[in-house]
This record gives sequence, C-alpha cells and structure tokens, in this order.
Amino acid sequence: MAKITFIEHNGTSHVFEAENGASVMRAAVDNNVPGIDGDCGGECACATCHVYVEPEWQAATGGRTETEETMLSFAAATQDNSRLCCQIIVSDALDGLVVRTPDGQH
Ligand code: FES
Repeated sequence: MAKITFIEHNGTSHVFEAENGASVMRAAVDNNVPGIDGDCGGECACATCHVYVEPEWQAATGGRTETEETMLSFAAATQDNSRLCCQIIVSDALDGLVVRTPDGQH
C-alpha cells in the first residue's frame, strides 16, 4: 500500500491509499481524482493521465519509457518532471508520493 497525494492546478489535494501492483492512474481514477481520465485504460496511448512528479519523488518513480516519451511529446504543458501516471506502478517504495495535475486537465 502507498499513500498518494494528487494536487490539482488550483491547489486542491486528493489523498488516498493505493494497492501495490496497480498503476497510479488506475488508483486515481478509482478515487475520482479530477483531471485524470485514463482514456486508453493504461496502454500509454492517450496522455490523459499526465502528471508532474514532485522533484523528491522523481528517483523513486523512475524514468519515462520510450513510448511514454513519444506520447508526452504530443501532450500540452510538459515539463522535465512530466510522467504518464499509468506507467507508474504503486509499491511500498512510493508511500507518500506527491504528484500534480497540469493546469489544462480538469
Ligand atoms: Fe492513457 Fe496513461 S491512461 S496514457
């Protein structure tokens, strides 16, 4: 289990517990986090799960996959800490993870 915090562009926080092995996107959708749609079901093919990973969590969440990199090149407002959260898998190591949703995602 991992406690995960999503912070919306307007500062609203959503905190929930997620099961190990699920994607962060799936956990966010299950917890009704605004701005995380997960339209492709986690296949890394839509970028509707775009998040900014807080700097202190970038090492633990790892790097982007090649496919993710390509999808992010089509996404709006990408930053160095952009990830597609369907590609981040929940584990105990991510307990306390904080990510932010981009301004354009509501
Ligand atoms: Fe589609 Fe993540 S859910 S890219």
